[in-house]
Amino acid sequence: MHPIANALPDTLCYLDGEYTPLRDAKVSVLDRGFIFGDGVYEVVPVYEGRPFCFDEHMARLGRSLAELQIDNPLTLDQWRDITVRLAAPGGASPQTVYYQVTRGVALRDHAMPKGLVPTVFAMVNPMKPVPDAVRAAGVSCVTAADFRWQKAHIKATSLLGAVLARQISVDAGATETVMFRGEFLSEASSSNVWVVKDGRMSGSPKDELVLAGIRYGLLERLCGNSGTPFDLRRIKRDEVFGADELLLSSATKEVLPVVTLDGQPIGNGRPGPIYRKLYAAYQDVKQRNR
Ligand code: PDD
Repeated sequence: MHPIANALPDTLCYLDGEYTPLRDAKVSVLDRGFIFGDGVYEVVPVYEGRPFCFDEHMARLGRSLAELQIDNPLTLDQWRDITVRLAAPGGASPQTVYYQVTRGVALRDHAMPKGLVPTVFAMVNPMKPVPDAVRAAGVSCVTAADFRWQKAHIKATSLLGAVLARQISVDAGATETVMFRGEFLSEASSSNVWVVKDGRMSGSPKDELVLAGIRYGLLERLCGNSGTPFDLRRIKRDEVFGADELLLSSATKEVLPVVTLDGQPIGNGRPGPIYRKLYAAYQDVKQRNR
């Protein structure tokens, strides 16, 4: 066994109605999540014990489940109870709760068996906030072809495309892999990408080719509040390299400035004013999440 398996935390997780230490939680080898990646997941940030944008995350979980034709096994209140209970021992420190629902356990057959009992799992992890010095300097990213499948809008546990994409930036010593479908920007391996030009912020359309992050709605609202024009449209590669500012967003990155792409500076190579405004407004919204 790899040494990491002995070092798994004993924090409580939720599995099929029971709370057990994470290191003891087990699922069947015939779980379709294990065999096929036949499941969906969510990641919700929790600040000071309170889940952030919880209803929006749970609505997306519902949409992902519907795409897989799996009935949502729990109510919104049940999901919320699990979240609060898992996050309670972490106190005020920022955390993330990860939720996974798979189709359940069955003999291996690609066809979807009827009447399976979904496997429901949730765990909590400390959030690793981006260090202040990294935020202040901005991050480097690299580009790659988006070789993932055509249903990127489903938050599916089959994440091999994302894993391979992320490793490209790991190997390059960069923070994220910004991906293009042909000439057009899609997103990064586990974040959305935003282009700022002449004071306007643009993102990829919310179609089947990207995972529309919960920060789509939030950033649109924050742009609206600060008079920053916002739109969703197909964005060409040269617009990305020619941006005044380039931003990443995700549950854990919140909003993060990209200052070099494939080694080329973006804008003046420093985090810009739209980033600073959005980051400050994001912190305000977090503060008011009570
Ligand atoms: N990733 N695009 C992809 C492909 C993602 O995996 C994620 C999130 C996002 C941003 O979505 P949101 O704003 O809802 O976090 C965009 C999560 C955090 C993960 O897989 O861990």
